[in-house]
Amino acid sequence: MCICISTGFCIICFSSIYLKSMDFTTAESFLHEGLLQSFELTKYILKTNVYPREPSPLKELREVTAKHPGKLMSTAPDTGQLMGMLLKLINAKKTIEIGVYTGYSLLLTALSIPHDAMVFIPIGFRFISLPIIQKAGVEHKINFIESQALPVLDKLLQNLSTKYPGFFKFNQLNSSSFVLFQQKDNEGSFDFAFVDADKENYLNYHERLLKLVKVGGLIVFDNTLWGGTVAQPEEAVSEDRKESRRSIIEFNNSVSIDQRIEIALAPSGDGLTICRRIR
Ligand SMILES: C[S@@+](CC[C@H](N)C(=O)[O-])C[C@H]1O[C@@H](n2cnc3c(N)ncnc32)[C@H](O)[C@@H]1O
Repeated sequence: MCICISTGFCIICFSSIYLKSMDFTTAESFLHEGLLQSFELTKYILKTNVYPREPSPLKELREVTAKHPGKLMSTAPDTGQLMGMLLKLINAKKTIEIGVYTGYSLLLTALSIPHDAMVFIPIGFRFISLPIIQKAGVEHKINFIESQALPVLDKLLQNLSTKYPGFFKFNQLNSSSFVLFQQKDNEGSFDFAFVDADKENYLNYHERLLKLVKVGGLIVFDNTLWGGTVAQPEEAVSEDRKESRRSIIEFNNSVSIDQRIEIALAPSGDGLTICRRIR
């Protein structure tokens, strides 16, 4: 434990010195405005590439979500398309999702993984898109836990042998619910994790998911550009966004030097950080 902390500190020092001494002049000539800065380009991408291929249950859910006050919380459709591609590329079968609003990313995951695969979701709030999920014929893949996420992740890591209170399948308590919790080896058993919940806990989720996701598996974090505020001075950011912005900046700095993962930050939607566990 001590060795790890010490090593991390050294890496941080090295990394910041390295970044400060880097000459960005040449690199900057290749920079251009990110997608988030061009609404027209975003619309173009959606119209030409995303919407024509969006499965009809997702389209229906997107339209239902658009009528809800928190509609902006839903995962962006272009980000969803990228997630679907990632899930298929790694042939994900066991996934976990943290943070559900109307469940666009959840439904997308359930549609992208094989028939016998499962999504596992600890969530904080009530879930409203059950009829669309049922109509799409994928509810059997979804294990739903109504809970704060951190305690559930901790219980998974303790390999709990009893049913978690509040854990149920959509329709009934199902025997497969028990299977998940009776497994002795939750560690390293997940192929894919998607995090889109409280930004203040991103690093806490990251630590736990690094144990739950297998080497070669992916942990994907949404909103890692936080509306572009990560690149703005703090004074320019509205009060209600400051705390999460700080957490996201801390998260971005931390994963950028984390030797246990490879990363790519895709400027899609509100920023999607893809972490591949390598050790
Ligand atoms: C941005 S929304 C997620 C949107 C989701 N990707 C979708 O497409 O429906 C964030 C959700 O995270 C949930 N949340 C926030 N804090 C949480 C926590 N500590 N544990 C579990 N869920 C949490 C909230 O219920 C909220 O609905």
